[in-house]
Amino acid sequence: MSFSAEWDELYRAGTHLSVWPWSDLVSYVYRYARAGRGYDRVLELGCGAGANIPLFLKLGADYSALEGSPTIVQSVLETYPMLQGKIIATDFTRDIPFTGPFDLVFDRASLIHNPTTAIANALNLVFDRLRPGGKFIGVDWFSDQHSSVRLGREVDAHTRADLPPGGAFAGTGNVHFCDKAHLIGLLEGAGFRVERLEHKRYDPAIPEGEETIAVWNFVAAKP
Ligand SMILES: C[S@@+](CC[C@H](N)C(=O)[O-])C[C@H]1O[C@@H](n2cnc3c(N)ncnc32)[C@H](O)[C@@H]1O
Repeated sequence: MSFSAEWDELYRAGTHLSVWPWSDLVSYVYRYARAGRGYDRVLELGCGAGANIPLFLKLGADYSALEGSPTIVQSVLETYPMLQGKIIATDFTRDIPFTGPFDLVFDRASLIHNPTTAIANALNLVFDRLRPGGKFIGVDWFSDQHSSVRLGREVDAHTRADLPPGGAFAGTGNVHFCDKAHLIGLLEGAGFRVERLEHKRYDPAIPEGEETIAVWNFVAAKP
């Protein structure tokens, strides 16, 4: 079982309750896979507290999501009762219990909280559920330039767990860090063609001593 129960605990504790769409995701969807322009049937991996849902409802997309925390799924469905049956509590690295084809699958910082083999398995499932020409957008996939890359305990060559209290990853279970070759290898290994890959680094200047955040954003297509 690759999915860790840590996220359910974090949500039950009232943390990580983001409700505004993530700006990089908004930009990517508008630039590369907009509903109304051929990307109408959409699946989110790990919707969390539902931050990205208003964007897709506003665009008129047919939105579905898989999320491993039953607590947050129940809460999101109370906010969006019209998505009953469209948001399912499950481990998306083991199964995607929707029949395809989807036009767009996206993931903002969700699959990247899993070990290498589970990520590879999920990417195969995503590839299978996309239509030819469909896209997989990833936002905020952690990079090996992140200052937390060596913290906690090693799970596999790219995954850490039990990251220390006080940091951004405290209590979040597995955290996966990708260098460029590893990320491209994961995506191409599932059959995707990488169409865009961008690296972002935040190096806080003031106050000094805060962590460097480094992430990848990408668009991958099913040929
Ligand atoms: C950092 S949160 C991101 C939530 C949301 N995508 C957002 O942008 O606000 C990561 C989410 O991924 C979910 N998650 C991680 N691994 C999962 C898995 N294997 N199966 C289902 N959900 C998973 C967690 O439960 C959590 O809600």
